[in-house]
Amino acid sequence: MKMKTLANAIQKGGQGKTMTTCHLAFDGARRGLRVVVIDLDPQGNASYTLEAHACGLFASQMFDDSPDLVLSFFADRDNSGITLIHNDDRLANIEKLDLEDAATLLRTHVEALSQYFDVCLIDTPPFLSNVMASALLSADFVMSPVELEPYSLQGMEKMVAVIQNLREANPTLQFIGMLPNRYNVKIPRHVENMAILRDAYADLVMPFDIRQRDSIAEALGNQIPVWEIKKTAARDATKEICVMTQYVFEKMEVIQ
Ligand SMILES: Nc1ncnc2c1ncn2[C@@H]1O[C@H](COP(=O)(O)OP(=O)(O)O)[C@@H](O)[C@H]1O
Ligand SMILES: [Mg+2]
Repeated sequence: MKMKTLANAIQKGGQGKTMTTCHLAFDGARRGLRVVVIDLDPQGNASYTLEAHACGLFASQMFDDSPDLVLSFFADRDNSGITLIHNDDRLANIEKLDLEDAATLLRTHVEALSQYFDVCLIDTPPFLSNVMASALLSADFVMSPVELEPYSLQGMEKMVAVIQNLREANPTLQFIGMLPNRYNVKIPRHVENMAILRDAYADLVMPFDIRQRDSIAEALGNQIPVWEIKKTAARDATKEICVMTQYVFEKMEVIQ
């Protein structure tokens, strides 16, 4: 099976990119997939939650001139479970490169990783940048978690345009869809915005949602998946997350 790469991207913070990246990593690992996570967000939230899985490589190294380091680093290593490529401050230097050069370097490194992993997950920063665009130019799939708030929907509109643009340079990129996240059915504005989102984007919206669940935030803070939170309140959250991971992995064709 060829490695499949998924970027979580939307040019707005707080939508659930990192939440999704981490839960896909945890779930992929328990399914026996070899999962590598590249944290391209300078905020480093995924690096915090997945810290126990840090391999010693840093995200900026995925833009090195040659993939030799990656090729030798993973060759004699047990690559099962989750492998984290940690964020670092040198990511800022990537913004000084031409986008085309940055994207070519990242693509070369993702290609090198494909010898050792089944799934590559890329967490991206909440703004359009060389690293975000490079991620989309290196990925096979992209998904966009989105809150049911006006600013978020505006961010979504921009993201759809960016994805459409970048697909010209990376025609293999498939949009798995928008993931309505942190949905609170008790807020009429959310219910209304959900209807607007589904009406405007139809098939581009995943056919389920994830509610606002305290146990999800608690789990990420405790560096564990939500199904390891031993509270009855975590059960519904677990169900919702697992519907999402199953759907995404099926679309990526990494599971049956
Ligand atoms: N469904 C949810 N319910 C409750 N809290 C959530 C949910 N999804 C994400 N969060 C929390 O909201 C914040 C933003 O999520 P995060 O994944 O970091 O967004 P992003 O990576 O898009 O900036 C985090 O504190 C996270 O723990
Ligand atoms: Mg994040």
